[in-house]
Amino acid sequence: MRTHYCGEVTEEHLDEIVEICGWVHRRRDHGGVIFIDLRDREGLVQVVFDPDDPQMFALAERVRPEFVLHVTGRVRRRPKGTENPGMRTGRIELFGQALEILNTAKTPPFQLDDDDVGEDVRLRYRYIDLRRPEMQRRLRTRARVTGVLRRYLDEHGFLDVETPMLTRATPEGARDYLVPSRVHPGAFYALPQSPQLFKQLLMMAGMDRYYQVVRCFRDEDLRADRQPEFTQLDVETAFLEEDGIMELMEGMIRDLFSTVLDVQLPERFPRMTWAETVRRFGIDRPDLRIPLELTEVSDLVDGVEFKVFSGPARDPKGRVAALRVPAGFELTRKQIDDYTGFVGRYGAKGLAYIKVNDPSRGRDGLQSPILKFLPDAAVHGILERTAAEAGDLIFFGADKAAVVNDALGALRVKLGHDLGLVEPGWRPLWVVDFPMFEYDDKDGRLYSLHHPFTAPRVERVEELRQGDPEKLLSRAYDMVLNGSEIGGGSIRIHRPEMQQAVLGMLGIDEEEAREKFGFLLDALEHGAPPHGGIAFGLDRLVMLITGSGSIRDVMAFPKTQTATCLLTEAPAPVGEDQLRELHIRLRPSAKE
Ligand code: AMO
Ligand code: AMP
Repeated sequence: MRTHYCGEVTEEHLDEIVEICGWVHRRRDHGGVIFIDLRDREGLVQVVFDPDDPQMFALAERVRPEFVLHVTGRVRRRPKGTENPGMRTGRIELFGQALEILNTAKTPPFQLDDDDVGEDVRLRYRYIDLRRPEMQRRLRTRARVTGVLRRYLDEHGFLDVETPMLTRATPEGARDYLVPSRVHPGAFYALPQSPQLFKQLLMMAGMDRYYQVVRCFRDEDLRADRQPEFTQLDVETAFLEEDGIMELMEGMIRDLFSTVLDVQLPERFPRMTWAETVRRFGIDRPDLRIPLELTEVSDLVDGVEFKVFSGPARDPKGRVAALRVPAGFELTRKQIDDYTGFVGRYGAKGLAYIKVNDPSRGRDGLQSPILKFLPDAAVHGILERTAAEAGDLIFFGADKAAVVNDALGALRVKLGHDLGLVEPGWRPLWVVDFPMFEYDDKDGRLYSLHHPFTAPRVERVEELRQGDPEKLLSRAYDMVLNGSEIGGGSIRIHRPEMQQAVLGMLGIDEEEAREKFGFLLDALEHGAPPHGGIAFGLDRLVMLITGSGSIRDVMAFPKTQTATCLLTEAPAPVGEDQLRELHIRLRPSAKE
């Protein structure tokens, strides 16, 4: 129906007759002449209809926003003074010769160029929202990203293999989405939280290198960078160890950034141990663009009378840390109160601070409500270790280490943004040497920090069982970029006795292990090669690359924070017949 995209008609086509199709972006009537901006995927072009052809003109008068048109026109230069150099098509216009209304449209629920539309409306009419150039750009970038990643992996010998969606639970730490079976009463499939076990089986099947752009399903609390279904770029290799895999994946991300953004990432991504990230940043996905760091001061205050500090300082699970804020002296009482409220959300019971007027004058050069509780030695130690300068402010967190890390880690990021300290650019990082397990006080058991198939640093089962399990390290690695965990992976366990032992430490006894993962344990006994891999959060990568603040902005049809689709109104009740077929009877809710 067309010879060109709207957005592609330029001076090159002067005097040509072109045919275009698209949506009416705007219609203006100017002294008997009608201007229509027609829009398609590639952009806008201005079409002019004059009253010389009364029939066509009458049709043009009927046109409303979002009508779908087919226009034939002659390309001509815009009159002097009416050019728009900011637009690719801004020097020309089409002089309308034929107009066909392919479809009409109701008045749109919002204007496409209105930046202030509520997200609910946008999601409900997503097909209109996606017509916005910004959304088109994001989805195009997404397609480009996927294409570049696929090409890299194809070129490096990875095979694209699909794995089942109707499967058994694959534990990645979230709840499962379940699908009832009609033919097996009372039995359920689980949608995969990741293809983890299948990709390991593919290594055992001799595929050597696998990848997949794959949907994963996790029923968990949603956040700005989390969706209940999201896409991973999932990768697995046999006979490669950490360095080999990390090098290949770094190469892929470098290739991606240079192709899509023309950004050259460092030749080798820095690596940092998990312990160091937590010590310095309070979090294991630090945003290295923010030049603020936590300083350990527990040993300086473990003897002070101030119980708020000495208590956690003496507690083996406690921590007292300082966060120096350059030029923070300027912060007002109100601002400090607000930050105290902010850390409160992370469980912090307060936010002690010292304002540093002049560090050379000792305590006389300081201002702080807690100064009176701290002896000179502690004050000196703190000033020295934080390298505080005149005009700074030092915040303190004192609590269980987990609370201090969460609170000051989040405060660090917030301050970085609030005070305009975020440096431009891209700061990739590998986090390595993760603990194998973390202990949950609430239910008194160990959990995998990654997943239960991650190999420990130790070779033999006896070594695994020796000593403190919380001190064991795993062979996992995460890729972090500007404070976002974009990928995570590990070398896997490839010996059945080790797998059994790790499951045992997680409180899964032999019987349960058989029942849940029997197929994996069997496969490990039939010639499993050493193997490992990684999965990238494709949506998160695209978020970063497009500079989007929400994961929903890089997905065509995302769900809301409460996991509903406003467009289709899923999830929805189903009829009694369907339920009966699935052997399901609903329990009346408390309200009923
Ligand atoms: P992991 O659970 O770390 O690892 O997931 C890999 C990456 O997927 C992204 N991601 C998400 N993105 C959007 N919404 C979510 N709800 C969500 N959850 C995770 C993150 C994360 O880094 N099977 C292992 C990988 C492996 O070991 O190879 C796994 O799934 O960017
Ligand atoms: P209080 O003794 O409760 O009046 O607290 C004195 C100062 O210590 C106040 O500035 C509090 O905000 C701060 N503070 C109290 N608890 C903590 C904590 N757990 N971590 C850091 N600062 C705290």
